[in-house]
Amino acid sequence: MKTVAVLVGSLRKDSINRKFAEALAKLAAGKLNFKFVEIGDLPLYNEDLWDNVPASVLRMKAEVEAADAVLFVTPEYNRMLSPALKNAADWGSRPYGKSSWLGKPSAVVGTTPGTTGSAAGQQSMKMLATILGTVQLGQPEVYFVWKPELFDATGTLVEPTAKAFLTSWVDAFANLIDAVAKEPVPA
Ligand SMILES: Cc1cc2nc3c(=O)[nH]c(=O)nc-3n(C[C@H](O)[C@H](O)[C@H](O)COP(=O)(O)O)c2cc1C
Repeated sequence: MKTVAVLVGSLRKDSINRKFAEALAKLAAGKLNFKFVEIGDLPLYNEDLWDNVPASVLRMKAEVEAADAVLFVTPEYNRMLSPALKNAADWGSRPYGKSSWLGKPSAVVGTTPGTTGSAAGQQSMKMLATILGTVQLGQPEVYFVWKPELFDATGTLVEPTAKAFLTSWVDAFANLIDAVAKEPVPA
């Protein structure tokens, strides 16, 4: 089964984006293996740190590189992606010529309690995922409006319409990952 490195842009423990990512992992079970990658321990990007590179940076890069694909789960902060994701993206893109992202199938999702479902935040993450050289899933787009009643007490998504839609997203992402595995994009 293909593995997906999951990077969640919110660092807080009650993050709805983390809960959403965990619900997606359950929905994808048997099709895709989601592996959560810690990004909260990365220092703010500083070129000087490559002289004595932090273990967290090497770990994050290794975990991304070992995965078949990457999923960016972004909250919306002032209509943009989270700084934690931008920071992880920058670390992963260096050293020059040794990017961890190049050619990886990717997808961007996110959720907000408000009605826009993180759409504006995702646009900047999608632009970034393109610039990183990932092969990005275009459709379906997932602008998820967070409503606790869609989930049961274990965090499993139970509402049928949302479940069917997100299952179609899992299938589309799995298809993209398979297609890129068969026909890798030249780096
Ligand atoms: C600094 C900051 C900026 C925010 N900006 C937006 C925004 O532009 N649009 C929006 O819908 N929600 C915005 N929110 C609200 C977040 O969507 C909400 O706090 C959400 O729960 C954050 O995701 P998390 O629960 O995964 O941490 C903002 C929250 C913070 C802390």
